[in-house]
Amino acid sequence: MPKDISKEKSIRKAKTTVELVICAVILGTSVFLGKSCFDRVKVVPSTNKEATKIEEIEIPDPSTAVDPNKIVFAPSPIETKKKFSGNLILVNNDNEYFSTGTENLVSIMTKNDEAGRSTFTAVDYDYTILEPAYEPLAKMVDDWHEIYNNDTLIVYGSHRTKEFQQQLYDQFTADTSGDGEAPIVALPGFSEHETGLAFDFSETTEYNYQGTGDFQWLNNNCHKYGFVIRYTEEKEAITEYRSEPWHFRYVGIPHAKYMTENNLCLEEYIELLRNAYNYNDEHLKINDEYGAAYEIYFYPSDDAAEVTNVPVPTGVKYEISGNNVDGFIVTVHVDEKTEIGSENLSFTTSPYSFSATTTADSSAETTADTTTDSTTETTVAY
Ligand code: DAL
Ligand code: ZN
Repeated sequence: MPKDISKEKSIRKAKTTVELVICAVILGTSVFLGKSCFDRVKVVPSTNKEATKIEEIEIPDPSTAVDPNKIVFAPSPIETKKKFSGNLILVNNDNEYFSTGTENLVSIMTKNDEAGRSTFTAVDYDYTILEPAYEPLAKMVDDWHEIYNNDTLIVYGSHRTKEFQQQLYDQFTADTSGDGEAPIVALPGFSEHETGLAFDFSETTEYNYQGTGDFQWLNNNCHKYGFVIRYTEEKEAITEYRSEPWHFRYVGIPHAKYMTENNLCLEEYIELLRNAYNYNDEHLKINDEYGAAYEIYFYPSDDAAEVTNVPVPTGVKYEISGNNVDGFIVTVHVDEKTEIGSENLSFTTSPYSFSATTTADSSAETTADTTTDSTTETTVAY
């Protein structure tokens, strides 16, 4: 082969090699750039989208951003000792009642007179109950009377002082010692009657109220007015008292409804709230027969501190009651919106006030109760 040709071939070969290298470089660069572009297409547009979205969205006004149906809770400092007061306090053989001496007691007969009410009566003017329990009692009896037109119903036991409970207890144990049955009179300091939230019905024909006949309606419907029959035969092992169909206890409408529908005595209900409806867990939701909705939860008391910060709703009416054991029960009236800061009806104007003032002289009824409750065996309703 001539030398020139061979040289030209070599040059061409070299040229081709250079061209191939350049191509490879260009191709590689293209692929790289293409991939970068693709990557950018993958990532950047989404970033860009976010950016676009943020630009497009108006920054919301915080006051309008809150879901109006969502209840916002905030801690409220409550004196820890208030766990011993309120509509839901559990008073039984294990849990003593500590009277503040300032219970807001009202005379049943005075209230009846003021309202011109003659559908029922009490033994005398010294028979008192806590003020928030009077209207529900009166409404219940009025509704009953409307149906049965029976004029024999009488409140035969109501608020008792610890001293009067002692008299009853002494008399009861003297009369019945050794009969082997569950007791019917609580130890002084351990009677619901001392709270003013309980009363006993009787009737003026036989003085033997059993919640039967005309009176069955009262026992069957009392939960609609916020009352429960506190001592039933079925729950005797828990309450440690014999059946007392005459003994009514005020707890408030949503609680009475739930307890009745679910066949729970107060001991069981308090335990259920503590175990299943803690503030930090699910809240108990109840709708009553009047269309009101409630949210209920338990919050433990901080017994080492003077104050417990109980979470309460803002802008919604609520009530707080102690459970007389280990904490507070908050009842939120879900549909009743209030001005922020005026929600708490529990400690100020409400009948559920823990700091209410006494309106009746509870010491006076000691004599009256003693006189009437000890009349004959059939008249006794504890
Ligand atoms: N009879 C009820 C238990 C009381 O004495 O309080
Ligand atoms: Zn009673």
